[in-house]
Amino acid sequence: MERIGVIGGGLMGSGIAEVCARAGSNVTVHEINAEAAEAALGRIQKSLARAVEREKLDEAGRDDILSRIDISTDISEQSDRQLVIEAATENEGLKKEIFSELDRIVGDEAILASNTSSIPITRLAAVTERPGKVVGLHFFNPVPVMALVELVTTVLTDDAAATAVASYAESLGKTVIRAKDRAGFIVNMLLIPYMIGAVRMYEAGFASAEDIDTGMKLGANHPMGPLELADFVGLDTTKFVADVLFEEFKDPAYASPPLLTRMVEAGLHGRKTGRGFYDYK
Ligand code: CAA
Ligand code: NAD
Repeated sequence: MERIGVIGGGLMGSGIAEVCARAGSNVTVHEINAEAAEAALGRIQKSLARAVEREKLDEAGRDDILSRIDISTDISEQSDRQLVIEAATENEGLKKEIFSELDRIVGDEAILASNTSSIPITRLAAVTERPGKVVGLHFFNPVPVMALVELVTTVLTDDAAATAVASYAESLGKTVIRAKDRAGFIVNMLLIPYMIGAVRMYEAGFASAEDIDTGMKLGANHPMGPLELADFVGLDTTKFVADVLFEEFKDPAYASPPLLTRMVEAGLHGRKTGRGFYDYK
């Protein structure tokens, strides 16, 4: 796996590009326009600058990593990639379009992976002519820090493709856990009802956001409280993931609370827009 493609250079795509380039791969990131491409590069530079500041990386190492990352707005530049990791917005229709287009562009041997938080991988595999070479490869935020990757295989996945992707993820320093293909896989099936349960508690006026978060940080030793974490993940992404889980299981535990829905409709998407349950401006 020397040539990696990443689709979307947002919170996750920029982190995925960074860890792949750190491991020695050449990475081409695809973004929708010049402004988004610039923002993606900015995120990678900021993350590497943080590593330099903390003396985890020297300037030559940073330049070497950056020299292996290209950001492009031309999807045809994915044509020579051996593995393409899709990390665009959590929207099934959009991801299906991307998979169908990538399938036409990349070589026959290339593997297509999605970093989706929740969408069943079979639906993405089914729009391609290579369903055996489509997997879920779910990284966690912030990608350079979080040690886990979930590998999701469908009934159609070839063992060889799954093994190749698992070894690649391990070569990035990640621990791989395997899940079968149902909405939310392992982690989000457990994490999302916890986070939206906290939104419900706050919405009911039972406790302040600060006290809910402090409760889980000091009472359960979590690095972030659930509302802080929802802001960190992105309230839009949190809601989209809850919607996919609700559609799959019809369990009220996954239903997006009205407050979360309203905040997303109001453009309060958490840290990335400067405001969510907390103000980051
Ligand atoms: N990018 C790169 N590196 C980062 C980073 C970022 N955005 N944020 C923090 N770091 C690094 C720092 O450089 C530092 O590295 P060193 O130890 O090597 O110096 C380390 O992480 C710790 O950082 P800080 O001391 O600044 O901050 P912290 O101790 O408060 O930790 C945190 C920050 C790692 C984000 C921590 O708060 C945490 O683990 N939060 C919970 C994250 C989590 O649960 N993520 C999963 C979300 S769910 C998901 O991803 C799945 C989904 O589908 C929605
Ligand atoms: P984000 O909103 O930060 O970034 C999404 C990026 O995709 C944007 O930069 C956007 O310009 C780009 N994009 C949209 N359409 C595109 C297209 N057609 N081609 C190329 N790029 C396109 O979102 P994110 O948090 O990075 O999430 C990306 C994916 O990763 C989602 O599937 C999400 O569920 C998943 N995920 C998110 C987290 C998290 O904590 N935020 C964790 C794990 C997985």
